Amino acid sequence: MNEPLIQFHNIDFAYSPDRTVLRGCNFCLRQGERVALLGPNGCGKTTLLHLIVGLLRPTNGRVEVFGKVRRGETDFHEVRRRVGLLFQDADDQLFCPTVAEDVAFGPLNLGKPRDEVRLIVAETLKSLGLNGFEHRVTNHLSGGEKRLVSLAAVLAMRPDVLLLDEPDMGLDDAVIERLLKLILGLPQALIVISHNRSFWTELTTSALEMREGNLFVQVP
Ligand SMILES: Nc1ncnc2c1ncn2[C@@H]1O[C@H](COP(=O)(O)OP(=O)(O)O)[C@@H](O)[C@H]1O
Ligand SMILES: [Mg+2]
Repeated sequence: MNEPLIQFHNIDFAYSPDRTVLRGCNFCLRQGERVALLGPNGCGKTTLLHLIVGLLRPTNGRVEVFGKVRRGETDFHEVRRRVGLLFQDADDQLFCPTVAEDVAFGPLNLGKPRDEVRLIVAETLKSLGLNGFEHRVTNHLSGGEKRLVSLAAVLAMRPDVLLLDEPDMGLDDAVIERLLKLILGLPQALIVISHNRSFWTELTTSALEMREGNLFVQVP
C-alpha cells in the first residue's frame, strides 16, 4: 500500500470546553489518494485542515505528517512548506497589493532567486488561465478571480499535498469546470472540502463524512 502522508491518531480538539469539535478522530491520507471531506456547516472540516498544518493544535492525540509526529511550531515548518492549504476565505490567503506579489510570496520565502520566482509566477498564472494578471490589484478582483489567484499562490509553492477548503465556493459553472480539469491534471494527493456533489465525485477517489467529531466512509 502507498505510504501514509497525513495521519490523525485519536485526535480530540476543542476551541473551548463548551465547543468540542473533534473526538477521537482517526484519519489517513496516502500517496495518490484524493479524498472528499464532507459534512454540514460548522461540523469541523476547516478545523481538521488547520490541525494538519499546525494552525491549531490538538487537545489530545497525535498528528503525523510525512512519517513524523508533529507537535511544536518548528515541527510544522516543513509541513507548511510541503502541504499547500487553500483557505476557505481568499482574504486569508491574499495580503499583497498585487497578484504577482501574492503568488511570488511563498517561493521568495523559500529562498528561491527572483528570476526563478518570476518564471514560476508566470507559469502558474498561465496554468490557471490568469495570463496578464500579474499587475492586477488583488483587492479589486472578483470573488472567483481571488479564488483562482489563491490557488496560484498555493501551487507556486509546488506542494506535495493539497488541502482545498471549498475551492468551488462562489464560482460560476465555467470556472468550476476549468478548476476541475486543472485539479484533475495535478499529481498531488489531496483533501477537498466541497458541498457540490458533482464537483467532488468527479475529483476524488473516496469520501469521508464528518459526524460527531469523527470521520466515516461515505458510499456515494
Ligand atoms: N476560532 C474559533 N473559535 C471558536 N469557535 C470556532 C472557531 N472557528 C470555528 N469555530 C467553531 O467550530 C466549529 C467547527 O468550525 P469549522 O471547522 O469552521 O466548520 P466547517 O468548516 O465544517 O464549516 C463551528 O461550530 C464553529 O463555529
Ligand atoms: Mg469550513
